[in-house]
Amino acid sequence: MHGPAWGSALDAGTGDHSLGWLGSLSPTSLTGVTVETWRLAGLKALAPTARIVEGQWTDPLLLAGERFDVVVADYVIGAIDGHAPYFQYGFLERIRPHVGSRLYLVGMEPPPRDGSLLDEVCRCRDAAILLAGHRCYREYPRELVVDWLGRVGFRVLDAASFPNVLKERFVNGQLDVARRKLPYFTDSALAESFSAYIEDLRRRALAAVPQKWGSDWVIAAGV
Ligand SMILES: C[S@@+](CC[C@H](N)C(=O)[O-])C[C@H]1O[C@@H](n2cnc3c(N)ncnc32)[C@H](O)[C@@H]1O
Repeated sequence: MHGPAWGSALDAGTGDHSLGWLGSLSPTSLTGVTVETWRLAGLKALAPTARIVEGQWTDPLLLAGERFDVVVADYVIGAIDGHAPYFQYGFLERIRPHVGSRLYLVGMEPPPRDGSLLDEVCRCRDAAILLAGHRCYREYPRELVVDWLGRVGFRVLDAASFPNVLKERFVNGQLDVARRKLPYFTDSALAESFSAYIEDLRRRALAAVPQKWGSDWVIAAGV
């Protein structure tokens, strides 16, 4: 849909994946923002010519006065609650002055609460995050984001959803997040039984994939 000319590009919540595919599109310049210090070294190694900025979108000085032809927010809306609680409601307005012509938003529908094994995997991950005293991601439905965009003055050009077929990588990825939270539990006996639960769930869920479950969405908007 976008064609070959990407101009200057901003990866508003950068990571290996989005920085990798944006870099492969040969924009005239590429800037990536992340609030997570641990990502910086890997991102600089992955894209040595990109400008990687460590910053927080709640900071009004972040990229002040800068405008980019294309802004990409790839799995950022859902991640914001983990880094700047409640700021989802202000994020689209916050990035609007940086959008020269096009905004692409990529996100995930909230996980279906259907009692399936993959639902249990997501609930197990979130329970571990909460017991560790950390904050969970919060995904938003495509329709709600389309509505937000209109309210803050974007023109929605197109939107599409893509059903997910989830495999071993998803099950292991989510349960490994849960496992990494165990050292933060205040009750060590609970951490021990939770560890056994994670591995039992891993065994059951791995036997149930691949499975079509949930969907991701992409929205294109203009200013
Ligand atoms: C789930 S990661 C997505 C990474 C990337 N798009 C990819 O797929 O490789 C979310 C990204 O958004 C960033 N992020 C989330 N909330 C942020 C905030 N309030 N300010 C700045 N960056 C934020 C995170 O630091 C991270 O770089």
